[in-house]
Amino acid sequence: MTPRPVRKAVIPAAGFGTRFLPFTKSVPKELIPVVDKPVIQYVVEEAAESGIEEILIILSAGKEAIRQHFSPAPELEQRLRERGKQPLLDELAAIGGGVRISYVYQHELDGLGGAVKLAREFVGDEFFAVLLGDTVMSSTTARPVTGQLIDAYKRYGAAAVAVEEVAPELVSRYGIIGGRTLAPDLVDVDVMIEKPAPAEAPSRLAVASRYLLSPSIFAALEQTPRGKGNEIQLTDAMRSLLGRERLIGCRIAGTRHDIGDKLSFLENTVEFALRRPEFRDRFMAFLKEVAAREQAKKEE
Ligand code: G1P
Repeated sequence: MTPRPVRKAVIPAAGFGTRFLPFTKSVPKELIPVVDKPVIQYVVEEAAESGIEEILIILSAGKEAIRQHFSPAPELEQRLRERGKQPLLDELAAIGGGVRISYVYQHELDGLGGAVKLAREFVGDEFFAVLLGDTVMSSTTARPVTGQLIDAYKRYGAAAVAVEEVAPELVSRYGIIGGRTLAPDLVDVDVMIEKPAPAEAPSRLAVASRYLLSPSIFAALEQTPRGKGNEIQLTDAMRSLLGRERLIGCRIAGTRHDIGDKLSFLENTVEFALRRPEFRDRFMAFLKEVAAREQAKKEE
């Protein structure tokens, strides 16, 4: 049987963003800019480019600016029209990636599992994607990372999760999978642990911000007690389905850019700016100048 197409995606964006305070005191971490676009816009674009048609964004109180970013702005548009700023109007029109976006509020911040649980009605009985709203994924192939998971789902008729290898000292920051190698980049997952101590980690393959889940996850989440950090962990619900439902771990062809982390934000700002032809040469010259100046200071 050919698996049904994946049409829906959920973007959890309700968390406090404590790793990026004080900025995130009043501005959602998902609106941190990478050059000139907020993180979550890259995420929506990735979903749209992967064939997703409908997105549910999980918000919490105080994060309405996310909704505003994807809503029409009639006065601004009028002003740009009057001034003949068509390229900017086109850019604004492209923000939502042509996807239908709706919103739901997570009133109790009980973790990623708690957030995904709120998508039950939106998802219905279809396989669906989950993309964390504070992480940009760049792909080294023509297919975006969410699209790579959709391809695995189509091939195996199973749920899939993006994974990447992390250093041993970092396993305790992530969900870690273990399993049997299926192909060079694919693992048949048989164990999954949220933020394990290095000694209990089944591998160094860390869950990397993108999921392609089966609708059975909702029943599993209902049965999932609070876990690590006293939060309902999506990892725990996914683990409870293993054995009954297949899960494919896909080593991503690409890079994860965690914008909610300060150092990573700085690195990515540089990397993404250098990808832009209008900034590339001048920005590169500036970086070299700064590096030379710092080096000279060191040698003084
Ligand atoms: C969440 C997940 C974790 C995953 C990580 C990065 O953790 O719970 O399994 O590895 O995202 O995708 P968080 O970063 O919210 O603590």
